[in-house]
Amino acid sequence: MEYLQIEGKQRINGKVKVNGAKNAAVAILPAALLTEESVRIGNLPRITDIDKLVKILEALGAKVSFTEERYLHIDSSDIYDLPPPPSLVNKFRASYYLMGVLLGRFGRVEIPMPGGCDLGPRPIDQHIKGFTALGAEVELDHGLVKITANKLRGAHIYLDVVSVGATINIMLAAVKAEGKTIIENVAKEPEIVDVANFLNAMGGHVVGAGTDVIKIQGVSELGSAEHTVIPDRIEAGTFMIAAAATGGEALITDVIPKHLDPVIAKLKEVGIILETGTDWIKVKGNNKLSSTDVKTFPYPGFPTDLQAPMMVLLTQVPGTSYLTENVFEGRFRHVGELKKMGARIKLGGRTAIIEGGHELVSAPIRATDLRGGAAFIIAGLVSCGDTILTGVEHIDRGYEDIEIRLRQLGVNLKRKTANGEIFPGK
Ligand code: EPZ
Repeated sequence: MEYLQIEGKQRINGKVKVNGAKNAAVAILPAALLTEESVRIGNLPRITDIDKLVKILEALGAKVSFTEERYLHIDSSDIYDLPPPPSLVNKFRASYYLMGVLLGRFGRVEIPMPGGCDLGPRPIDQHIKGFTALGAEVELDHGLVKITANKLRGAHIYLDVVSVGATINIMLAAVKAEGKTIIENVAKEPEIVDVANFLNAMGGHVVGAGTDVIKIQGVSELGSAEHTVIPDRIEAGTFMIAAAATGGEALITDVIPKHLDPVIAKLKEVGIILETGTDWIKVKGNNKLSSTDVKTFPYPGFPTDLQAPMMVLLTQVPGTSYLTENVFEGRFRHVGELKKMGARIKLGGRTAIIEGGHELVSAPIRATDLRGGAAFIIAGLVSCGDTILTGVEHIDRGYEDIEIRLRQLGVNLKRKTANGEIFPGK
């Protein structure tokens, strides 16, 4: 079992380059199966969710190779019309994109309900509503989703819930459907724009991604393409919050600052000093911080994926802060572990009330989801003593070599097993 040993009372001080966005890459890789020609995808993060997707693509018969670091070449000219391996699909949420993609490619798919971080109920009714509107029949059978369509036809779909996954999945299924699809009340996350850009690079006709309405004129075939994945705004935001919480300084490069507007605004409100350039953000801690009120919302609201890291920062800010989770009703699983470290947090429905400005103390803690895990690392850095953090596999799903990247930011943490330290890549 791997764990992280995090030295406490450390300050971030350094520079780090942001990797490609997980939540764009996990849709772009399956989308490559929509064409029978080869595609080349750059700036891929080397994270375990991508490793699982590569295995799924290979199991389906695609020829996949990393041509140079972070470039993936995918040839899916000759893939099998078979269900993707359940043992891999079960393990992560984004496997649901295989529904839209295989439906688009073969007119049918049979796949288990997706796995992923436990953030409370995560229904896929809006995905199903979209597929059904496009003419597919969907059957749920003992945890299996069976979707079939003789022909997919463009449709007018109004989503009841603003959903990243449903927006992308319906786009994937509709790009080769006959006629025009209009999807209203869609999510506007930058990752959705990135996926739309990739579909268009392959010859799709998708307009409006990044706004409330996406219009897709179906095409009969898609061709080859080359695409570079956008920077991961959540990874960048995690490093920014780590710098802020430790009272340190960080230069975060290869980022699109605009994608972090809600995070920059909130950190400034707290009193953190920020400077931005074309592709960099400088963060400087401040010892005079003010408590605040944070509410998560779909983009361009404050991202739910940074709610847990932000909570740790707020434990360091004197006064009472309020953090309301509006996206996932069960996304407060990190609170119990933070309380073990001495955090004064009360939960009232969807709001966490944080009495900040009190020292955290190290404790053995366990990550049970990706962003909660990242938050615990930040908690370990600000706390008194060494923190032992287990459940690292959750963090590896979305952050590449987290300990190496944080060492670039000037702090000391080690990945270990009972047999000693592990050095990734060696
Ligand atoms: C995506 O999840 C991301 N995952 C999540 O990132 C992110 O937290 C989330 O969007 C919100 O930004 C990927 O991109 C792979 P949603 P997704 O559909 O698509 C409800 C991370 O840490 N809903 O936008 O699953 C749902 O229950 C991960 O990187 C329905 O009711 O999220 C939630 O309350 C975790 N019916 C809300 O909508 C549906 O059919 C938003 O979920 C779909 C969603």
